[in-house]
Amino acid sequence: MEDQKQPGNISRVLVTGAAGFIGSHTCDRLLETGKTVMGIDDLSTGKLANLAGASGQDTFSFQQADVCDEPAIVDIFVDFQPDAVIHLAALVSVPIAENNPAENFRINVSGTQSVAQAAHLSGAERIVFASSAAVYGNSDALPLCEEEPVNPVNQYGMAKLEAENLLLGYEESHGLVTTCLRFFNVYGPRQDPSSPYSGVISIFAEHCRTGQAVTVYGDGHQSRDFIFVKDIARAVVASATNSTLSGGIYNLCSGKAKTLLQLLDALKEIYLDIPGPVFKEGRKGDIRHSLGDPAAAHAKLGFSTSTSFAEGIGELLASIQGQ
Ligand code: NAD
Ligand code: UD1
Repeated sequence: MEDQKQPGNISRVLVTGAAGFIGSHTCDRLLETGKTVMGIDDLSTGKLANLAGASGQDTFSFQQADVCDEPAIVDIFVDFQPDAVIHLAALVSVPIAENNPAENFRINVSGTQSVAQAAHLSGAERIVFASSAAVYGNSDALPLCEEEPVNPVNQYGMAKLEAENLLLGYEESHGLVTTCLRFFNVYGPRQDPSSPYSGVISIFAEHCRTGQAVTVYGDGHQSRDFIFVKDIARAVVASATNSTLSGGIYNLCSGKAKTLLQLLDALKEIYLDIPGPVFKEGRKGDIRHSLGDPAAAHAKLGFSTSTSFAEGIGELLASIQGQ
């Protein structure tokens, strides 16, 4: 027989975008901490192979579904009765969102609305949302703290901001404890390098491994705050499952920035003979510099990164060797 729900006891967690890069690491982490997990994904960019470890466990189940299909999503949630929801499903690429604003709105805003409604109707206590550093836009006030005014400069960032507000509205109206985590640039194993719209580290690493020249959009002096995926998964899981934590908006970042040219220099130390980069025009909607302040997540969530850049790159490269 199913356990009765007990307030504050977070044992059943539903993850959207579960077959994706961050979603699959999040499921692994939840299972390691003894939770019963249901993953949802439409497999548009995610892969079942990412869930190979999770799928072998009795406490894991998976449903292929589109988060925009509200009736189907509500049924799945009501059936599973999650204590907490982690909403990661999204259209993730800034340039794809820029060129397909309606699709960006459909998945990143309307999809979030379906998930919020399903979380509410199924009686979930908490929801954690994958927001983005993109909500800050091109601010000069680096490192960015959460009080900094939001000013997204692309469709993707605007949708993430809409989704944050929509979820915070559910907290106001229905008491759904909401944590919006503004991820900076996440990297690590399972980030698919096969699309030119994937994360830059996975693309550069794969090109270097196979001896191909990378493409740098712009002058390469743009910078990002890179954070390792297992650190992200740890923070996401703690925010969803520790019922003593209140909701709110937090940056998840390392507090250190690297330019793309510095990233290439780091890869050159490992792959000695890589060809020089090809420079192309900068991408529309691209942010110039992004650097977060990790202090609030440390103070309020007890989170700090535990993986150095060298360790994270080492783990990524080990995972792609011989593929
Ligand atoms: P990903 O593409 O690997 O994961 C997204 C997953 O969502 C995929 O598995 C995809 O199949 C699924 N999905 C997409 N549309 C869906 C739909 N309509 N219904 C159901 N599933 C759907 O990308 P990721 O990097 O793991 O991103 C996870 C979350 O983190 C996203 O919300 C993204 O916006 C956010 N984020 C990522 C980064 C980063 O650097 N990777 C930074 C900031 C925020
Ligand atoms: C990334 C995430 C986005 C997230 C944001 C948070 C992905 C695909 N995008 O966007 O979801 O919300 O961080 O900060 O994970 N570049 C090249 N060559 C390439 C690929 C990229 O020069 O082959 C450049 C881009 O133009 C950009 C930088 O590298 O200047 C980073 O690009 P990308 O990895 O796509 O990340 P963001 O756009 O920052």
